[in-house]
Amino acid sequence: MSVSDDELPAGPNPFEVIGGEPAVLALVQRFYDLMDLEPAYKGLRALHPSHLEGSRDKLFWFLCGWLGGPQHYVERFGHPRLRARHLPFTIGIAERDQWMACMKQAMNETGLDSTLDERLEASFFNTADWMRNRGG
Ligand code: HEM
Repeated sequence: MSVSDDELPAGPNPFEVIGGEPAVLALVQRFYDLMDLEPAYKGLRALHPSHLEGSRDKLFWFLCGWLGGPQHYVERFGHPRLRARHLPFTIGIAERDQWMACMKQAMNETGLDSTLDERLEASFFNTADWMRNRGG
């Protein structure tokens, strides 16, 4: 399976299935709220700026397009080049796993369409794993 920031989960348009922009926004807000609140994501939180507003906007814009909806991120910033944009941050297995755990918790808590859960989770994992830039 090819892994890139162009990758879309296979099958029906996930953006439509999960409920469009309101659902993506709810997911992103919960994801960053949890990152702020949960001690388990402290390491992940520490990599981010003190204010998360910019991170919230960017992840929301990116995920809309990545899920098959409007390309808000590309319209503003061009090609995502996600791996390159993550190179300033040290990302190993621990960081990847915290990102995934935080996203899975946000997916559960926002009640994202369960028929999509497994496919979405696999796609998030592939993208998160591809972001690793150091061993361990
Ligand atoms: C693997 C673990 C990951 C870590 C530790 C991580 C960490 C970060 C950090 C610290 C930033 C900078 C935040 C800011 O400038 O406000 C960032 C930006 C971003 N991340 Fe991640 N991230 C990870 C995985 C992912 C994944 C899987 C996705 C997409 C599915 C993603 C999408 C983004 C986007 C779109 C941005 C904004 C890029 C920009 O325009 O500057 N990240 N990430």
